[in-house]
Amino acid sequence: MPTIYLLNGPNLNLLGKRQPEIYGSETLEDVERLCRAALPEGWDLRALQSNWEGQLIDWIHEARDHAAGIVINPGAFTHTSVAILDALNAYEGPVIEIHISNVHKRESFRHHSYVSLRADGVIAGLGIEGYVAGVRRVCSTR
Ligand code: DQA
Repeated sequence: MPTIYLLNGPNLNLLGKRQPEIYGSETLEDVERLCRAALPEGWDLRALQSNWEGQLIDWIHEARDHAAGIVINPGAFTHTSVAILDALNAYEGPVIEIHISNVHKRESFRHHSYVSLRADGVIAGLGIEGYVAGVRRVCSTR
């Protein structure tokens, strides 16, 4: 069964409680529920969150053998992590980068993304709907 890896990085476990004026009041559980509801028949989702860069890298490595695509919100690691970029470069399927907020409307340090050097698509500023669009895109490109 094709499986999408839905990866969320640091602080996204606090979604719904953290800066709701920027990130909204919906939680990561809501994100997972919406993404599952968007899956075509016969598809599965592995939804994972970590505050640890190395853990995210290990999951990206795992995805090499198990994932039909990766939908990833790397949080602040977006702007800092060459290591996550390298891990994604070692993955061959589609990668969609998600940001809940419009990072381009925010501080300049959020305007650069290492992950965008690898991502096949980037969605920013659509709130948690962006994750659903990312999942739909992976399913339709297979
Ligand atoms: C974020 C944007 C990042 O700049 C920030 O560090 C996050 C969340 C977003 O979803 O808008 O943690 O990736």
